[in-house]
Amino acid sequence: LSRNAFPKEFIFGTATSAYQVEGMADKDGRGQSIWDPYVQIPGNIAGNATGEVAVDQYHKYKEDVDIMKRLNFDAYRFSISWSRIFPNGTGEVNWKGVAYYNRLIDYMVDQGITPYANLYHYDLPLTLQERYGGLLGMQIVKDFAKYAEFCFEHFGDRVKNWMTFNEPRVIAALGFDNGINPPSRCSKEYGNCTNGNSGTEPYIAAHHIILSHAAAVDIYRNNYQKAQEGRIGILLDFAYYEPLTRGKQDNYAAQRARDFHLGWFLHPITYGEYPRTMQEIVKERLPKFSEEEVSLVKGSIDFLGINQYTTFYMFNPKSTQLDAPGYQNDWNVGFAFEKNGVPIGPRAHSTWLYQVPWGMYKALMYVKERYGNPNVILSENGRDTPDIQLPEALFDLERIEYFKLYIQNMKRAIDDGANVSGYFAWSLLDNFEWLSGYTSRFGIVYVDYKNGLKRYPKMSAHWFKQMLQRKN
Ligand code: GCO
Repeated sequence: LSRNAFPKEFIFGTATSAYQVEGMADKDGRGQSIWDPYVQIPGNIAGNATGEVAVDQYHKYKEDVDIMKRLNFDAYRFSISWSRIFPNGTGEVNWKGVAYYNRLIDYMVDQGITPYANLYHYDLPLTLQERYGGLLGMQIVKDFAKYAEFCFEHFGDRVKNWMTFNEPRVIAALGFDNGINPPSRCSKEYGNCTNGNSGTEPYIAAHHIILSHAAAVDIYRNNYQKAQEGRIGILLDFAYYEPLTRGKQDNYAAQRARDFHLGWFLHPITYGEYPRTMQEIVKERLPKFSEEEVSLVKGSIDFLGINQYTTFYMFNPKSTQLDAPGYQNDWNVGFAFEKNGVPIGPRAHSTWLYQVPWGMYKALMYVKERYGNPNVILSENGRDTPDIQLPEALFDLERIEYFKLYIQNMKRAIDDGANVSGYFAWSLLDNFEWLSGYTSRFGIVYVDYKNGLKRYPKMSAHWFKQMLQRKN
């Protein structure tokens, strides 16, 4: 496998997000996001870890960009922390935060690493949560658009690839259905988390994300795109769903899961409405787009980021589950990791992550066929290992195997007509893996948390370096 098998313009990069790598969470003027108080609550995060220091990319960005360059990567996908720019979500600007992103972007451009900037990776400014319920308030659409415009204005001369939101499905499901991510909204079916209405709130939050995305894109296209010659998109996670058997019922279950996972966002963006299955199942709990909103949402991407890690089996949910009124977890039905006792693939460290390379192929072909073959970047792909120590941690043969098989399957989809123009490994570095804290390591570069956050490229990093060598 070599990059020479791909078109010349094909981009390879790595990805991270602000809270997972930056550190300096309560310093240099950054305001709190909804994650800051959340990680302080004992028991929420493995080892009660936080992102206060993370891997200190705020100070080590040059070293990190140098590593990317040495490994022959073309691009870096990072995210901007909204509350580092606007500590209160709106209003006063924290110019130290602006200066940080200018330093990072300037250095990348200087070193020939193309910036891919994402505006929202879970880290909603806390004040907006407190003021109007964050994503549940319609005001978020205006506030997000203003924040986005500020970024276009100040960074868009150098950033030509913009992404509005990362994994809105995760935000809606984990933040507003089972409540395991902030703002921890869920209904009484979930233990101690009783402050929400998970029959409606995930749909409202998701709806507002879609409208916020569309508003930002509209501003970009009207006022910046032409002068800055850039493009804008959104990042959607897509675990592929394979029917457990060939039966009609299991087929329906898998299709339903794909609609609730990817279609929730990509359907409105492509066709101006939610998928039929969602409309039938969620009924009046599903918000509607006005005509004016449809015109903003439909066609609101120049490219699409797909985060693809794994694949699950789906089987026919019991009719009692299907017909239950109100909240019944509309999407998580008939879900399996194995078939006849055989796992769908080797498991990584995270319990949800099975290595299923053919799922990458199917996911990309599905996007091609159902959604009019949009320009796709594979914006995240990777596997984790447990918190093992040096030097064993550097011999990550299982990670190389994973990348090799997945990239081969991406290539196979491209050969079959999928319009894929880039690939980003998750992640450049071991980092703060949300609820798992630092116990799950996704990096191709090891970070020694005990000794000054020193970076050590793993074997998988060397593998990329070789694979990405340009020969002509
Ligand atoms: C995302 C992901 C990342 C994770 C990665 C590994 O939303 O893009 O949550 O932030 O670190 O997917 O789980």
